[in-house]
Amino acid sequence: MPRTAMAAVHDGDGSELKVREVTVDDPGPGEVLVRLGASGVCGSDRHVIDGEWTLPTPTVLGHEGAGVVEAVGAGVTDVAPGDNVILSWCYPCRRCRACAAGKAWACTGTRSGECLLPDGGTRLSDENGMVYPYLAVGTMSEYTVVPESAAVRVPAEVPFDVASLIGCSIATGVGAVVNNARVPAGASAAVVGCGGVGLAVVMGLTLAGAYPIIAVDTAEEKLAAARSFGATHTVRADKEPVATVVGEITGGGADHAFEVIGRVETIETLPSLLAPGGVGVLVGLPPEGARAGIDVLELAEAGKTLVGSNYGGAVPSLDFPRLADLYLAGRLPLDSLISHRIRLDEVNDAFDAMRAGTRTRSVIVFE
Ligand code: APR
Ligand code: ZN
Repeated sequence: MPRTAMAAVHDGDGSELKVREVTVDDPGPGEVLVRLGASGVCGSDRHVIDGEWTLPTPTVLGHEGAGVVEAVGAGVTDVAPGDNVILSWCYPCRRCRACAAGKAWACTGTRSGECLLPDGGTRLSDENGMVYPYLAVGTMSEYTVVPESAAVRVPAEVPFDVASLIGCSIATGVGAVVNNARVPAGASAAVVGCGGVGLAVVMGLTLAGAYPIIAVDTAEEKLAAARSFGATHTVRADKEPVATVVGEITGGGADHAFEVIGRVETIETLPSLLAPGGVGVLVGLPPEGARAGIDVLELAEAGKTLVGSNYGGAVPSLDFPRLADLYLAGRLPLDSLISHRIRLDEVNDAFDAMRAGTRTRSVIVFE
């Protein structure tokens, strides 16, 4: 029996999100109906609202979510009703070469980027027809239907607000450190941009034993938060010459530098933060079509590397339970990342606060 759900819908016309009813169908074969417990408000949702990325519309936004399995379609064996799950915004097809190679984040068979389920449809609609779940999860909704491979079971002791963050910012940020950069203990690192994802990078660096850990942001609150998560030094990007200060702290440049904003201007500065042989990691996602200017002779002569990082190189079925266990063991202070717990109808205020840089992370909590 189809049900209605309140959801935050992006109409693609530049206006703010509308919180309104959508119809959610039963899960089809291989699909899972999830009642959301929480959804984080992430920078990627903001890129969509601000028109930097094109998407089919109308779209239920949100891609950082966790909840409980309400019902499963035919043939589903990974999860059962009552299970707590974290949703993956890139559901792996489990058939392509990337999936076979254990690189779920690089799956070529997924249709998540088109906001479609494997059969090319969605289970959401309104009076005008099909509604698209952002990245095939659409977590800013009371209910969603996702492919089985997008729902990863986690222990019920992990609260939904924390679990939701594991589904994007934590997997992305911690993963960039441990999966992509593989930062060894004692390596130096700079993190440019300390929003929800950047702070997760700082946590990952702390976990990995990096030193020094230099947090860079334009907002003092973000730098204070970064210190609480293990940053040993902070730099105000709007007041200090970032490359000079990073060079002084590290004695000639960082071994690793992470860009976690998604701005071309800051991506272009990454090589200047690195020591010869250093590695710059692109975690922030720029607008479509963005191009960066890099001094390529300097890059080559100094043997520097720039690498892209998508979803922290995560394999959700492996990484989500691992991150949940680290949280339960007290090794990842994820509760402290949540600055605001809000209702669904407060979502537009959360995006305004994100644009103003005044919040670390807002999480929508469903009743
Ligand atoms: N220099 C340093 N920091 C800056 C600058 C700058 N020039 N401009 C903005 N910032 C900081 C902001 O103050 C904020 O703390 O960058 C941070 C960006 O954080 P959020 O807007 O909260 O975004 P977040 O959810 O962390 O996502 C960051 O990662 O996964 C991607 O798509 C996501 O591109 C986005 C990025
Ligand atoms: Zn995200």
